[in-house]
Amino acid sequence: MAAEKEVDTTGLLGWIDRRFPLSSLWKAHLSEYYAPKNFNFWYFFGSLALLVLVLQIVTGIFLVMNYKPDATLAFASVEYIMRDVPWGWLIRYLHSTGASMFFVVVYLHMFRGLLYGSYRKPRELVWVFGCLIFLSLMAEAFFGYLLPWGQMSYWGAQVIVNLFSAIPFIGPDLSLWIRGDYVVSDVTLNRFFAFHVIAIPLVLLALVVAHIMALHEVGSNNPDGIEIKETKDANGRPLDGIPFHPYYSVHDFMGVSVFLFIFCAIVFFAPEMGGYFLEANNFVPADSLKTPPEIAPVWYFTAFYAMLRAVTDYFKIVFEVIAGLLGLLGLIKARTIKWKIGSVVIAAIVIAVMLTTQAKFWGVLVMGGAVVTLFFLPWLDQSPVKSIRYRPLFHKVFYGIFVIVFLTLAFLGTKPPTPAGTLIAQIGTLLYFGFFWGMPFWTRLGTFKPVPDRVTFKPH
Ligand code: HEM
Repeated sequence: MAAEKEVDTTGLLGWIDRRFPLSSLWKAHLSEYYAPKNFNFWYFFGSLALLVLVLQIVTGIFLVMNYKPDATLAFASVEYIMRDVPWGWLIRYLHSTGASMFFVVVYLHMFRGLLYGSYRKPRELVWVFGCLIFLSLMAEAFFGYLLPWGQMSYWGAQVIVNLFSAIPFIGPDLSLWIRGDYVVSDVTLNRFFAFHVIAIPLVLLALVVAHIMALHEVGSNNPDGIEIKETKDANGRPLDGIPFHPYYSVHDFMGVSVFLFIFCAIVFFAPEMGGYFLEANNFVPADSLKTPPEIAPVWYFTAFYAMLRAVTDYFKIVFEVIAGLLGLLGLIKARTIKWKIGSVVIAAIVIAVMLTTQAKFWGVLVMGGAVVTLFFLPWLDQSPVKSIRYRPLFHKVFYGIFVIVFLTLAFLGTKPPTPAGTLIAQIGTLLYFGFFWGMPFWTRLGTFKPVPDRVTFKPH
């Protein structure tokens, strides 16, 4: 109500407001959006993700002006952008560095969610939209990587699309349908181009809007995991909240400045980032007759790629044993005879299917499952407190192990497979899934610290 009265009805703003809710949008999402006053370092990454999204769209538009989505011209058109188009090298490096930095920022943003339980009630949908963004971002990066038509682009796409052929019955036809040809070809390049420049960006933008709308509906979480809306003043404003604008707009501007220093240092001094951001093999034009000795995805996919490779015929036995044990557990624990028989039958079917299908198929399921698992996080975590601050020490140790496991998997995925590396990746895969699917059990355990009523905040 108060917001209605303050709307300026004169001048240009008044003219606009009578036709479009500009002032009320500004108030609802910026000047009167109350955010907790105890945001810390981890809260920079949402606005940084927005910044990188805009950067990718703007630099992408300029790249498309000179790029040719044609298998005979694509590689040369990228070289033309790098050498002949005025400032083309800068636009291209901003875009390629932006792709990697997008994942750096988003991984840190997701980790913040894990630290402070930001996915818990009432923010489940904020998290689910976030996971959909993450999936779209992976698709966007995968489609984009084919466009320079280098050796890595070509063979990376070949390997990933071929994975679909491991799906029983429909697999071979499905991968043919995705490629549009028997091998990755000009047809594939054209459709990947369409997805990269228009289809996925539209989905991404819509999801980001939904993500922020869902967040603003329930309000932000904070490092203490306390709901600030539960303690309000006489005017109905949260006592521990401060208006997003100007407080956090200025705060985020500082984050943006520091980020741009790092970003520009990479763009100007190390755009290839030692082969992690731009791989050496991708400076060689695609050749369908010459398979490169090593095919590895870009670093941001390698943790999931390591899980895919970890599933060997031998490792499949572990899953068969797990399925058998779960069936046995059902037999012992289920209350009715119907459920007892049901769990044994399901376990038997799963084991039979496992015995008759290739390890590659299960690798694909494990890789997909690693991302899909994230969607369930709000319901898997049963801890009585949200934030890591008030959890028992062993929870912190588990989080630490999880980070080490994820980084180890990411490292292993960049290297050619070795017996020792595969064994470590297999243990890592079990720990990754154990961390999440074991949550309904371990997150309830231990002695939790009392959560204060008000946020902890030291002015500086
Ligand atoms: C293009 C990618 C993304 C953009 C632009 C984006 C943007 C934002 C922004 C601006 C905020 C509010 C500021 C902040 O809390 O940092 C936010 C909050 C949040 N985001 Fe994202 N996000 C993205 C991806 C993701 C992903 C992939 C996830 C998780 C899977 C996620 C989960 C969350 C959660 C849980 C919050 C609420 C945090 C809290 O209140 O503590 N976001 N996001």
